[in-house]
Amino acid sequence: PIILSQTKFTHRDTLQYPYEERGLQFGDGVYEVIRIYNGKYYLLEEHINRLFRSAEAVKIALPFTKDELTNLLNTLLQKNEVETDAKVYLQATRGSAPREHTFPEDVPANVYAYVTALSRNLEFLKNGVGTITKRDVRWENCYIKSLNLLPNVLAKQEAKEHGCYEAILHKDGFVTECSSSNVYLVRNGEIFTHPATNNILHGCVRIRVEQFAKKLGIPFNEEGFSVEDIALADELFLSSSTSEIMPIISVDGKTIADGKPGATTKQLQAEYEKDAV
Ligand code: PDD
Repeated sequence: PIILSQTKFTHRDTLQYPYEERGLQFGDGVYEVIRIYNGKYYLLEEHINRLFRSAEAVKIALPFTKDELTNLLNTLLQKNEVETDAKVYLQATRGSAPREHTFPEDVPANVYAYVTALSRNLEFLKNGVGTITKRDVRWENCYIKSLNLLPNVLAKQEAKEHGCYEAILHKDGFVTECSSSNVYLVRNGEIFTHPATNNILHGCVRIRVEQFAKKLGIPFNEEGFSVEDIALADELFLSSSTSEIMPIISVDGKTIADGKPGATTKQLQAEYEKDAV
């Protein structure tokens, strides 16, 4: 496998970082996960825009322009002869330097990106998944796609230990998002989701969910909902680059409506299918 390292391509096994690396020691970096269908990127521009937004927010200087990164990422797929479904993981850290909390001077960012195969989870997409609820204990800048993922990791692990797919996070009783996806409630034919504030990651698939809803004439309300509202939901679903648009059929062991993916969710999934696959 060939990976992108800084702005060059190299064999995966030749990549070496010193042990004093800011991503490793401080989680001092940002990242993206980009989906590929049939050898082509989905939402590439949206992901690149968000990467630059995240990097700017934490003052990491990226070694390329948006256009240059687009070309580098396309070359990455060519070099690996990617023709099927896959994902690219890209991260940019503040670089390698003796361990000191303050920024090192004149040290370039460490950037790498690699591609791995990822097939669609058709079973879950068709039948839906279970979730748990967890208090959202993250910081106030969740719009930055930061490498600091400890709360997300702990929440998703707890979901797994309950036989569930995701953890729905809530702050003061209001649902923000999931540990690695955005979440939506459907009631009386309308969609409700947390507004795109600093308290959630502004998902690239979320942008599409809003567009699909507009196209289908389904009201898309950027209005939060509470954990109690979940009991009254007709449907619940989540979205992310790896999960696509995924029906949620249970929360904390209680089924949503009749426990089957709902009509609105299925309509949105059909739009996604047309747009992406
Ligand atoms: N996660 N919210 C959080 C906290 C996320 O980590 C993600 C993505 C999303 C959805 O964003 P998008 O639609 O752009 O994928 C929302 C990626 C897939 C991950 O960390 O693996």
